[in-house]
Amino acid sequence: MNGRPFAPAKERVARRRLFAVALAIAAAATLTPSASAAADRIAAADAQRLLGQYKCYICHADHETKAGPAYVDVARYFRGRADAVPTIAREIRRGMRRGGPWHMPPHPEVSPAEAQTMARYIMSLDHAPTRANAPR
Ligand code: HEC
Repeated sequence: MNGRPFAPAKERVARRRLFAVALAIAAAATLTPSASAAADRIAAADAQRLLGQYKCYICHADHETKAGPAYVDVARYFRGRADAVPTIAREIRRGMRRGGPWHMPPHPEVSPAEAQTMARYIMSLDHAPTRANAPR
């Protein structure tokens, strides 16, 4: 025993940690675009699961008008509005009636966070890769 038996080991661990942190930062820096694309995919998968779980797809589809409007049309309708996500999230929970033959029933069982996840997903449809080919 030399009086500081653990110090060298600790230093090694500390150095290894520092290296791991540096690696993580480097990885984050190089991977940022695909990491955020992956995050988008997870958010989209979450939203689609919720839309299925709450049976929204009975009346709606992403790209097709059913009893309710296609979500991509909702996204186009709200295009450029800063309050799009909170407004849509509120309408999902409270329902709405714009005077058409059908109305959107309220969904009080949907939490505000879930409604926001779905609203973000709906708005993301307007920015789909096909947008460049879209007629407008
Ligand atoms: C019983 C059928 C039905 C179900 C179930 C339903 N919707 Fe709707 N939804 C409608 C109809 C119909 C409209 C259009 C209402 C109108 O224009 O008056 C609508 C409108 C909307 C809109 C457009 C709001 C706007 O301001 O233009 C969104 C967003 C929406 N629904 C999301 C959802 C989500 C999310 C769910 C599931 C939690 C859901 N809907 C479940 C029928 C439904």
